[in-house]
Amino acid sequence: MSRPDLAAHWMPFTANRQYKQQPRLLVRAHGMHYWTDEGRQVLDGVAGLWCVNAGHGRSRITTAMAEQAAEMDYCPPFQMGHPKAFELATQLAALAPEPLRHVFFTNSGSESVDTALKMALAYHRARGEGQRTRLIGRERGYHGVNFGGLSVGGMVGNRKQFGAMVAGVDHLRHTHDLARNAFSVGQPAHGAELADDLERLVALHDASTIAAVIVEPMAGSTGVLVPPQGYLQRLREICDRHGILLIFDEVITGFGRTGQPFAAQTFGVTPDLMTLAKGLTNGAVPMGAVVASRAVHDAIMQAPPTNAIEFFHGYTYSAHPLACAAGLATLATYAEDGLLTRASAMGAAFAKAVHGLRDCPHVVDVRNVGLVAGIELAGREGAPGARAFDVFLDCFREGLLIRTTGDTIALSPPLIIEDAHIVQMADTVRRAIQRVA
Ligand SMILES: Cc1ncc(COP(=O)(O)O)c(C=O)c1O
Repeated sequence: MSRPDLAAHWMPFTANRQYKQQPRLLVRAHGMHYWTDEGRQVLDGVAGLWCVNAGHGRSRITTAMAEQAAEMDYCPPFQMGHPKAFELATQLAALAPEPLRHVFFTNSGSESVDTALKMALAYHRARGEGQRTRLIGRERGYHGVNFGGLSVGGMVGNRKQFGAMVAGVDHLRHTHDLARNAFSVGQPAHGAELADDLERLVALHDASTIAAVIVEPMAGSTGVLVPPQGYLQRLREICDRHGILLIFDEVITGFGRTGQPFAAQTFGVTPDLMTLAKGLTNGAVPMGAVVASRAVHDAIMQAPPTNAIEFFHGYTYSAHPLACAAGLATLATYAEDGLLTRASAMGAAFAKAVHGLRDCPHVVDVRNVGLVAGIELAGREGAPGARAFDVFLDCFREGLLIRTTGDTIALSPPLIIEDAHIVQMADTVRRAIQRVA
């Protein structure tokens, strides 16, 4: 297959110059696998980018999209609607934990985050507490790339090029603690007290100025940080004590990754707002959503007269018909194949395989929950991230797609994974780690 000219496409989150020297092109996907333009089969160890939870090329989803495109390609989402948008919202609300019952559609995780932050501000304003404008994120958090999400996010590489960002934002400390928690299986034992950082910020600013706290229940993009036991519960308690909204960014953890439909259910803590994307359409077409509690929704609804727009926000492609069709078919696929809880059934075999890598050279930590794992390597002197990237390249050559962030390898395979794939993943990663300097 001849290769296209690579110059014009400015690739996202990619070392463009390095990539274009040695491009990696994928041309086909089915089930647990990709195929390269050279015809090599590659096992998908990351569900595309944490999104293809039901595996690739699910015909129910692709057929639903094709049929929808033929029937009605587009419907304006402002002051108009189409049936599938309402059906999908109803089904999503039923899947989410009580009292999250109202769904606002977006087109990505980044848009979901900025939408949720705006909802939090609008909620307080509607209740006469418009002075609550401060937003709290967490160090090492990833909430997408738009200015709201960037501001509450805490990954330095994503922030340093972009100036002062949104004003009035603070950060909790992250929960990564190699000294106390290395090689924890599942939730680490130490670190619940880090939630008390929120009390310190309340003491500094006064709760009356704080609108919301946003965290990933399990931080994915920063290298798979599983919440310490009791941490999320404590955060919830402190938020409740001070009237602060709690937002869970479930863009990665949503749709079965941790063993339940949502991490809120896995960890037993319910937020006021939950952001979703990725697995919502099995990655087949862009779509995101914010699921809001009744209290947040109702407060914003009741404020203005009934002929007024209650929330001045939305996207041209909110609730796009193709995305809604894909979403409905995706939820049906998850239900039919039991995928939203399959990570708990496969979790033990997965945990055993990834923790079996702890004796490999350079490995300083292995972390896991459900069907997600982080394998952290010691960085090379003066070249952070280089060792893990070499593991990525080696794995790709050997027929496995993984993801690396800094010196952590992240594994998050499609939830249809079988035992043989788990063995192949662990063996390939082991050999790659053994080969890199
Ligand atoms: C937790 C979290 N929030 C937000 C996003 C951003 O999503 P998107 O890339 O769809 O904008 C991501 C993407 O990985 C994510 O992991």
